[in-house]
Amino acid sequence: MSESVIVNRPSTGPAPTSGTCRVVAATVADDRVADDAVAAAHRRYAERRPNSAAQAAAAARVLPAGSTRSVLDFDPFPFRVARASGSELVDVDGHSYVDFLGDYTAGLLGHNPPAVAEAVRRVLERGWSLGAVADDEHRLASLLCDRFPSVDQIRFTNSGTEANLMAISLARHHTGRDRVLVFDGAYHGGLLYFGAAATPIQAPYPYVRCRFNDIGSVRQALADQGSEIACVLVEPMMGSGGCIPGEPDFLAELRSLCSDAGVLLIFDEVMTSRMSTGGAQQRLGVVPDLTTLGKYLGGGMTFGAFGGPAAIMAAFDPARGGTLTHGGTFNNNVMTMSVGAAAVEQLLGAGALEALFDRGEGFRSRVDAALAPVGMSATGWGSLLTVQAARGPIRRPGDVQGVDSRLGELLFHAMLDRGVYLARRGFIALSLAISDADLDRFLAALEDSLDELTTDGVLVASTS
Ligand SMILES: Cc1ncc(COP(=O)(O)O)c(C=O)c1O
Repeated sequence: MSESVIVNRPSTGPAPTSGTCRVVAATVADDRVADDAVAAAHRRYAERRPNSAAQAAAAARVLPAGSTRSVLDFDPFPFRVARASGSELVDVDGHSYVDFLGDYTAGLLGHNPPAVAEAVRRVLERGWSLGAVADDEHRLASLLCDRFPSVDQIRFTNSGTEANLMAISLARHHTGRDRVLVFDGAYHGGLLYFGAAATPIQAPYPYVRCRFNDIGSVRQALADQGSEIACVLVEPMMGSGGCIPGEPDFLAELRSLCSDAGVLLIFDEVMTSRMSTGGAQQRLGVVPDLTTLGKYLGGGMTFGAFGGPAAIMAAFDPARGGTLTHGGTFNNNVMTMSVGAAAVEQLLGAGALEALFDRGEGFRSRVDAALAPVGMSATGWGSLLTVQAARGPIRRPGDVQGVDSRLGELLFHAMLDRGVYLARRGFIALSLAISDADLDRFLAALEDSLDELTTDGVLVASTS
């Protein structure tokens, strides 16, 4: 590996050519007051949830950290869900929450939609775990190939992580090159996270790291190492990275730089595919070489997929000279294939996705207006947004590194106190089940929470 390849470290390349951002961060009045407020919020939360507390403690004996999905963990312990319906979660202590997290986008349909329940029942009647091929797989593949401009052919996986690992491996095979260009702060799955700290939990490819929304850093990397770079893996909007949209010019230039350098452009649309029936790529008019999908497109079942032009996907087809195999016991599991097809056909039409996108745009501007007086903001696109403890411009995750994490923690608990569930890091994914009344309730809870934090002397109203 050449020394110029940066593996698992934030980009230290050339200075950004455009827009080093200076954000205005919200501030706490006093360190001790903020620490005391966090401790009090945790105490209050725990006292009200004895059943969740007992279940969390028992679970931690057999599950490290008491669960098996790290992102769901929060202090002092995550509540345990007893049941869910529509936009509501009810925990084992009887607290009800409006679900603004939407299972980190996998829950786009809301909880228990009847069309999905019916599709599940049909599978239960017909049989599952077939160890053979059934036509549901073809149905779902046809529906998705018809939707996404870049996808002529597709293959299924069990997760978005796996879809990205397969797409990267396919790109390396197709180009005969090794390196994978990614962006600082990007999350493409459990084994594909590119945060500031080094981690041993990372698929061991030789990575080249660039800065999101900084085309100069990409141009430089391609000039230096282009002949060794197989692919650029990018989300059209960084989701886990803070709902930071890729600027249209950045993504368009990325497309043309990749074409010029013979590098495959992979759009990770695991989250952004909801932006229209053809995903973010359709909305932006930028067509990648490969696309990866996941989350809600399996109707709430375990799902992932990667696809692209027939000529590239031929690598998996021996009849067309392909030499790659793609294993996976559950790749074509009937539950996901059948339920996914029913969800796409019956619930995810253009009208539904357009309306959700518009709703999200309107909601984000209301949330942003409520946050502005305290120096906070809402970033995002369509129905995905993140509450940031700073005001923009926020163009890449590094812009908000170092903002006081206690503010997010306090706001998260204040919202839980008011029966609103979002991610601890401020991430929100609207589902189709969220009503106008739910949106109003969120806004009222947010304004009330900010008032409380200001009155308690924790949060200082911004003067900028
Ligand atoms: C953009 C993106 N890519 C990939 C993944 C990984 O998907 P999965 O959790 O299904 O492995 C995620 C998950 O949050 C994601 O947000």
